[in-house]
Amino acid sequence: MPWDPTQYHRFQAERSAPFFDLLALVERRPNLKAIDLGCGTGELTRQLADALPNSAVTGLDSSAQMLEKAAAFASPGMHFEQGDQSQLTGEWDLIFSNAALQWSENHPDLIPRLYRSLAPGGQIAVQVPSNHNHVSHQIYRETASAEPFQSILKGFQRYAPVLSIDEYASLLFECGAEDIIVFEKIYPHILEDSDAVVEWISGTALVPYFERLGEQKEDLVKAIREKMRDALPGQPVFYPFRRILFSARKPN
Ligand SMILES: C[S@@+](CC[C@H](N)C(=O)[O-])C[C@H]1O[C@@H](n2cnc3c(N)ncnc32)[C@H](O)[C@@H]1O
Repeated sequence: MPWDPTQYHRFQAERSAPFFDLLALVERRPNLKAIDLGCGTGELTRQLADALPNSAVTGLDSSAQMLEKAAAFASPGMHFEQGDQSQLTGEWDLIFSNAALQWSENHPDLIPRLYRSLAPGGQIAVQVPSNHNHVSHQIYRETASAEPFQSILKGFQRYAPVLSIDEYASLLFECGAEDIIVFEKIYPHILEDSDAVVEWISGTALVPYFERLGEQKEDLVKAIREKMRDALPGQPVFYPFRRILFSARKPN
């Protein structure tokens, strides 16, 4: 997918807050072999590596555009690789992923597979957005399923594969995990107006639609902007953003 690092960074401060909540769940041990799945532009992978002394940290992402930016943050203990997070191989002491696993399907299969890649005593720590029922998502799905977009998109819609907190907890338990922590949190963002909400989703949820629309992406954005102004009038706009965080450890 054609990720745009500049668009993604428009709300960098808001987007990094859950990263620090996730980092707080990580057990700080030296000499870990750690991987950051869907590392994006690498600043946050750098923070992760700095928090894990003497560890070997890999940032993995499928996007060449994001990895091009990430290269600047590499160091002897940290490198970046292009690859698909859903096809992870190897054995890891820490599998970390902030705001990326929602781009891979079938979490009832994916989470146990990632868990199996943990070394004994290893930890998995994940954050995924669970905001898919917010009106902003309803609006883009509704707009994409109306003409002319439905025909151009050939009926394409993307639904978040994100599960409920109960389902993640059960999956981890069924894997045999210990120290299971699962919670959902609202990050209370205050954005300038409804156009800013469209800017926000343009950096993430709309990316697969843009990929299929080519030059007509601006028409979709314009149509969504109009509907969003009706749905979220006034300034500023309160954008309560729901996210799920979970962590668990494989027994020794
Ligand atoms: C919302 S960004 C999050 C980036 C970073 N973790 C952060 O917190 O800023 C999602 C990232 O997941 C990457 N991604 C999407 N699907 C992927 C896949 N199947 N394998 C690896 N990375 C993927 C995208 O390229 C993008 O960089």
